[in-house]
This record gives sequence, C-alpha cells and structure tokens, in this order.
Amino acid sequence: MAHVPVMAGDVMRLLDPPTSSLLVDLTVGAGGHAGEFLAASSPTARVLGVDRDPNALALAAENLASFGDRVTFVRSDFAGFLERHDELAPGLTPDTIVLDAGVSSMQLDEPSRGFSFREDEPLLMTMDPDATLTAAHVVNRMSLDDLTHAIGALGGEPRARRIAQAIVDRRRLRRFRTTGDLRVVIEDALRRRGGRIHPATRTFQGIRMVVNDELGQLERAIPRALDWLAPGGRIAVIAFHSGEDRVVKNAFRDAKRDGLGSLLTKKPLVADNDEIRINRRSRSARLRAFHKAGSS
Ligand SMILES: C[S@@+](CC[C@H](N)C(=O)[O-])C[C@H]1O[C@@H](n2cnc3c(N)ncnc32)[C@H](O)[C@@H]1O
Repeated sequence: MAHVPVMAGDVMRLLDPPTSSLLVDLTVGAGGHAGEFLAASSPTARVLGVDRDPNALALAAENLASFGDRVTFVRSDFAGFLERHDELAPGLTPDTIVLDAGVSSMQLDEPSRGFSFREDEPLLMTMDPDATLTAAHVVNRMSLDDLTHAIGALGGEPRARRIAQAIVDRRRLRRFRTTGDLRVVIEDALRRRGGRIHPATRTFQGIRMVVNDELGQLERAIPRALDWLAPGGRIAVIAFHSGEDRVVKNAFRDAKRDGLGSLLTKKPLVADNDEIRINRRSRSARLRAFHKAGSS
C-alpha cells in the first residue's frame, strides 16, 4: 500500500489536483495518495489526513514530512469524523475527498495486530488498536447465524455454515485466543491446509469486516462526505469488496438522482495488469468518482 498507492494515476486524473485547494484523505494510511496529490497540486493546496490507526498516521507524517505544514492529521474513524467535522475540522470545506477503503498491507503484515493467519497472533484485527470489539469477541460470542453471515456474505466463503458450526463447537470446549487457533479450526473444517488461496482467507476477511464495521462505516460516510464537499468538488472512492462497491455505487446513484451532481465513472475503473503484477492488492480494487454540481 504505502509506497504504491492503488490506481494513483486514475485517482489523480479524476480528482484533478491542480484545481483543488483542500484534499480530505479519509484513509490516509501511509500517505501514498496524499503525497501524489500534494506533488501535483498548487503549493498552497493542503491535505487533511484522517485514519483510525495511529501507526498509519505516524507513518504518513513521516512520509509527508517534506510537505511541511501543508498537511495536518486527525485520528478518527471516517464515519465519526464526518459526523463531527464542524468540531474536528472547524471552518474547513474540502473541494476534494478520497477514500481508499479497507485494511492496509502494513496492518496485515504488522505482527501482533491479529490480521494474519500465517503467524500465531492475538485474535484482534482492530484497525484502531484501542477499539473494544476484537476478533476474539466475535468468534467467542457471535451467534451461529451471525457468524455464518459474516463468513459467507462478507467473507465470500461458500462453506460458511460449516466453518461457523466448527467455531461454535470448538468454543464450547475452549475459547479462541489466537489467529492460529482460528486457522486450525478452519483448516480442519474444510479439510485443507494450503492451496492457491489459503482456506482461512475468506473467513478472516469476513470477521475483520465485522470487527471494523467496514460496510457500516462506508454506508454512513459517503452521504456525509457528499454533503460536506464544496460545490464543484470531487470525491473518489476505492473499494476492495463487492459489498463495499455496491454501497459506493448506490450512494453515488442516489446523489445523482437527487440532483447533487454527476458520475465521473459510469462503471467502476479497475487496475491494469501492470499494476496488478506489481501490487497484488490492486487486483480487487474498484474505483468510482463523483463530481458535485456547482462552481468551485
Ligand atoms: C488501504 S489503506 C490507505 C492507503 C493510502 N491511500 C495510501 O496511499 O497510503 C487504508 C487505511 O484506511 C484506514 N481505515 C480503514 N477504514 C477506516 C475507517 N473506517 N476510518 C478511518 N480509517 C480507516 C486504515 O487504518 C488504513 O490505514
């Protein structure tokens, strides 16, 4: 993620940095998109970077240090931030907003955050390390039906019921504590330990999406972002999951129907093969953008 922002060329073309004076980057991460924006915009243009992960904000601050006071940060989840922007970003109105959803490769790779089934880590998966709902809560307490939904509908796992049942059976004997505990139960339930896609991949994704309320965050954020955006402003959103992309598509469709502006992308843009070869994460990216009516 960090040094190779996903679909950076398309994002910059759609957002048109030279015409912008303030970018709010709702998922600043390592500052990849923010840095591209700052480099392409006028020297007076500024960035406000938001992230719920303090490690990401620290990395973004380091990576964007050369832009000095053109960059400021807020630690918050983006839906909560947009609800309280009057208080958290007083007097500011962005003409450009970007949201690059999901988890970063830095978070996936960071030991002890519990996103990875490759190592035996505490079962956390929280993007905000202070969040109280962890993956351990979800797998130790969630009902069989809700677990099935998380693993199937969010994770995209066709054998969700079988895995959810195996989780419920196992936790009656012993609570889940680590990612390794969960991985083994999934491998046993599917009677598979390897393969091109590891058998735990989809289950981990579904649980991570519940822990971080990823769809709920996006559903609440996009209408608020469209509302806050200055007339004539632009917003670009990258989703990595079909459910997320549907949320973005519907929110932009509703905004267009309500006369708020126009779509800059009729269909979602996807990464090209060259980018997918270099950055595997980009293979599931779907980019959509919207242009708010009015003059900037
Ligand atoms: C894919 S990375 C962003 C990468 C960034 N665009 C770059 O080029 O470096 C996603 C970041 O968004 C943050 N994030 C995801 N969902 C969030 C939410 N609901 N609120 C705040 N930050 C969120 C994650 O913590 C992570 O740092």
